[in-house]
Amino acid sequence: MKIISAEFVTSATGLDKCPAGSHPEVALAGRSNVGKSSLLNTLVNRKRLARTSNTPGRTQLINFFIINDILHLVDLPGYGFAKVPVRVKAQWGKMVNSYLAGRKQLRGLLLLVDVRHKPTTDDQQMYNWLKTYHIPTAVVATKADKLSRGRAKQNLAVVRQTLQLVDGDPLILFSAVSGQGKDDIWAVIENWTEQ
Ligand code: GTP
Ligand code: MG
Repeated sequence: MKIISAEFVTSATGLDKCPAGSHPEVALAGRSNVGKSSLLNTLVNRKRLARTSNTPGRTQLINFFIINDILHLVDLPGYGFAKVPVRVKAQWGKMVNSYLAGRKQLRGLLLLVDVRHKPTTDDQQMYNWLKTYHIPTAVVATKADKLSRGRAKQNLAVVRQTLQLVDGDPLILFSAVSGQGKDDIWAVIENWTEQ
């Protein structure tokens, strides 16, 4: 996709606060610190459109971005950050679940996992949940630049097996540093959103 414009729209605390309108939407989910905001920035060729941080749990709201005035990219708050208080975790669950279950404009979800680590129970639960609700899913293995090519390939097999990836769900190796995988991700997004 040729990026003409990419702008922040709003931060929502729940489904009822999400922007109206019928723009097709693709959301990014994954553990805290996995690289969701970085991936979004890479997709739209911007360094700081979505805020990235070394501090896990930086993104705590549902953040909407509009691309070329036609597509929403949605940065969801990360899960699985141990230091988050129970109350905040419960809030997170409510917010993200209501969004995923109720958002009519949602065409697909990019589930990010860190290619260096075996997917966690949280990742497995998220993937299974997406399958249960028939949300088209692509799994993106991030931070590929941190491993050798051979090691990354081995780890992709572990990701596929641990999540028990369904045939046909794309699995894409990605790096926000090198841009590897960016075109593949756009191809998936365009496939979900064009009609
Ligand atoms: P939360 O908003 O807390 O859920 O985190 P996030 O998933 O949005 O992660 P974010 O994009 O903020 O990235 C977390 C850290 O990982 C930052 O220090 C990024 O610079 C780094 N990072 C993200 N993607 C990559 C990547 O592909 N390669 C490398 N080397 N670092 C990355
Ligand atoms: Mg973030």
